Amino acid sequence: MESNPFLEEDLDIRNRPESCILVIFGATGDLTHRKLIPALYNLAAEGNLPPGLKVIGFARREKSDAVFRDGLEKVIKEISPATYNQRLWESFSQNVFYHQSEFQDLEGYEGLRTRLEQIEAEGGGSGNRLFYVASAPEFFDDILLHLRDAGLNKVAANAGADAWARAVVEKPFGTDLVTAKHLNRVVNDTFHESDTYRIDHYLGKETAQNIMVLRFANAIFEPLWNNRHIDHVQITCAENLGMEGGRGAYYDTAGALRDMVQNHLLQLLSLIAMEPPTDLSADGVRDEKVKVLRSLRPMSGADEVGANVVRAQYTAGVVDGKEAVAYRREDRVNPGSLTESFVALRIHIDNWRWEGVPFYVRMGKQLPKKATEISIHFKQPPAVLFNTVPGADSENVLVIRIQPNEGISLRMQSKLPGPALRMESVKMDFQYATSFGKGSPEAYERLLLDAMAGDATLFARRDEVENAWKFIDEIEHAWHKAETPPKMAEYPAGSWGPQEADELLRQDGRHWRRL
Ligand code: BG6
Repeated sequence: MESNPFLEEDLDIRNRPESCILVIFGATGDLTHRKLIPALYNLAAEGNLPPGLKVIGFARREKSDAVFRDGLEKVIKEISPATYNQRLWESFSQNVFYHQSEFQDLEGYEGLRTRLEQIEAEGGGSGNRLFYVASAPEFFDDILLHLRDAGLNKVAANAGADAWARAVVEKPFGTDLVTAKHLNRVVNDTFHESDTYRIDHYLGKETAQNIMVLRFANAIFEPLWNNRHIDHVQITCAENLGMEGGRGAYYDTAGALRDMVQNHLLQLLSLIAMEPPTDLSADGVRDEKVKVLRSLRPMSGADEVGANVVRAQYTAGVVDGKEAVAYRREDRVNPGSLTESFVALRIHIDNWRWEGVPFYVRMGKQLPKKATEISIHFKQPPAVLFNTVPGADSENVLVIRIQPNEGISLRMQSKLPGPALRMESVKMDFQYATSFGKGSPEAYERLLLDAMAGDATLFARRDEVENAWKFIDEIEHAWHKAETPPKMAEYPAGSWGPQEADELLRQDGRHWRRL
């Protein structure tokens, strides 16, 4: 298989990932099968995995190594038939093992320690251990505390001086500020903050990483990147799926705001809004992002939340030509559910740069297509020359397409050819696929390598997570605890969301960009 130019270049300028034993808790789950193992397999195919890497899946079901490997192979064949190669799979999977234990059973962790020691005695993993907590969230505490009680949070006594023990923690990182603080305490009682990697897979997306480069490595954007020149910013994450595969059970306890806005979309917003960091170190970047989160104007009370946030559920409709049931009729969703499948927000950032520039953020399930993009809408030039010319009212828009069709485009005004003076909005477009010859690697590939390399730049720090929850909690509070909560709107599955979300922008004389 061809090697991946993105990663090779990256490895030359960043820390190199080091060999380790990666232990995945929740190894029988979807994330392990559909994201983590495929990411590791792709890295192996590209020759980018550190030599001597071993993987141990830790989960409750009884399974042999062979049965575990067979199940993983089946999914790889199904999701990426083009990259599946039997010989490669065999050499990769002989380094993958299974360890059965209840998450609450200390003996299981002691057994794990013995297994780690055996592998290390045979020369695997170089004494480095990466514990990836990817189970159902109710077991996060148990797993972390048992790791500590079994002494696995520390480097083994006979390991080399540079050996490490790290923890990667999956989302959801708490369900509100209180639970996030609690989990942070448990994590930090177990692992040092610098050995803790809180996953937000949006940060691993190539286009999200490109935001800093676009802003700070080009001379032409940053001088305009402020309230003198930017009218507003939109961040949209549209999904054309509902609650397939039993997902309703989790989703109905979370909702769009907690599931996607608290983490992924506020992370994107921070990257767009942050000041230039002093350097590219993990803390240099995260210091600036956290300042943005601390500057989010809080919404207190049902009235403010009602005026700035729209929540909605889908009713029955048609998505991609297929009939879709209403959210409340979905499998494993409470028929009287008050969980939103769509949310739109008007967010203000109270700092020097962004005073008066609204950030409109929306996320919805069962919309017409899957697309995530950020658009920066610039102010109009002075209306003295072309204000009477047909077509002159279009704005300059810089669009960052996070996915799919990754790229960046700029809309600008052009004269239509011909004797009359008419204008039309035209587009300059950069596409990853055409410029770089291939698409971007999966976010998890990058994030796994970074955790093995000890680079936490693309992982959320404790204070980022807590500040994001602080902002989100006020909205959740107004929805679920206020005497007269803001109402739940509706939108037909397959539409672009409720009218109330359009109205949110119309009140400000603006409209959502059509994706
Ligand atoms: C997850 C959410 O974190 O991100 C899901 O829990 C969502 O609800 C998913 O569908 C979206 O990720 P991506 O990479 O497909 O945009």
